[in-house]
Amino acid sequence: MGLWSTWVELKNNIRDFWWKEMTQMHDNIVGLDASILMHPKVWEASGHISNFTDPMVDCKVCKSRFRSDQIDLSAPCQNCGSKDSFTEPRNFNLMFSTHMGSVQDSSSVVYLRPETAQGIYADFKNVVQSSRVKIPFGIAQVGKSFRNEITTKNFIFRSCEFEQMEMQYFVKPGEDETWFDFWKEQRMAFYHKMGINPESLRWHKHGDDELAFYAKDAYDIQFLFPMGWQELEGVHNRTNYDLTQHQTFSGKDLSYLDQETNERYVPYVVETSAGLTRNVLMALSDAYEEEKLPDGDTRTVLHFHPKIAPITVAVLPLVKKDGISEKAQKLEKELREDFATFYDQSGAIGRRYRRMDEIGTPYCVTLDYQTLTDTQ
Ligand code: GAP
Repeated sequence: MGLWSTWVELKNNIRDFWWKEMTQMHDNIVGLDASILMHPKVWEASGHISNFTDPMVDCKVCKSRFRSDQIDLSAPCQNCGSKDSFTEPRNFNLMFSTHMGSVQDSSSVVYLRPETAQGIYADFKNVVQSSRVKIPFGIAQVGKSFRNEITTKNFIFRSCEFEQMEMQYFVKPGEDETWFDFWKEQRMAFYHKMGINPESLRWHKHGDDELAFYAKDAYDIQFLFPMGWQELEGVHNRTNYDLTQHQTFSGKDLSYLDQETNERYVPYVVETSAGLTRNVLMALSDAYEEEKLPDGDTRTVLHFHPKIAPITVAVLPLVKKDGISEKAQKLEKELREDFATFYDQSGAIGRRYRRMDEIGTPYCVTLDYQTLTDTQ
């Protein structure tokens, strides 16, 4: 499933807003565009080859596959109703694999990245050496990730191919908790600035059963989706686990020398990891309203913040004649330089406004006879 027309604009606007807030608005965060296919050792180092699994069972009768932690194994198969038909749970790796080069054997296996974050670790040394950044600093990246998800439902909430917006913030050990609190505050503020209803956002702290063994602390920002509270973004204190692992597996020194104090250490990382595709679903859910009309009918309206609305301003001349449409077209062309615009001169003005309400256009400009007088 893909996104099309106005929803691509919505996705790009959210992405651009995130990019601006995370790079342009901070003088110590640099951008990165790492590759999707990386050396398989990257995924050995990160633990994805051995640990990035879901426990699965198959129904021996209808061959349907389920996550064993999401169903009652003593109940009949949900698909065909057979009893006692499940296989033993087996770990199923969520990474998609393919082959690099013409020979297809075990030595040519490569993986499509299941998260963008590992590309940031793999490029950490390059960034330190080429960007003259000093700790604390961050590396931000937006891009596609791939997971062989068995349960893909709820539209684009969980899909096999999706986009992430991730930032790894490298800090001095001991200062990690302060930066963790800083990024928690920044990331929630981001959604408020995007105009999302604060009452539909909340924090969820990872309990001992959810926390990765190397993580010191982790919180999710959850959003109240139509199907309930669900994760939107994670803010994690990942300690120096990832860089230490990459150091071990690559044999390259990934420590950082603080030139002022002459201290050398492997930095701690505070990660902010948001789903871009999931953000699109959040923005749509948040904007959606079913308006009850006096005649009993219902109509839908989308309320987007101007920062993310697919169309920012529509220009709607009241009539086509007497030079009004020419003036309106000229105005629309001028506005195009800075805004996503839409021009519509056909049909009743009320209906044209209505169409704009339906796709969440925050500003509409109408030109009429008074405009001709006022702008003479
Ligand atoms: N680097 C850390 C990381 O990837 P994650 O919790 O697995 O952490 C981060 O993913 C975010 O990516 C999630 O909060 C969610 O918004 C998004 N995400 C994860 N899996 C997804 C999927 N299958 N489809 C859509 N979005 C997904």
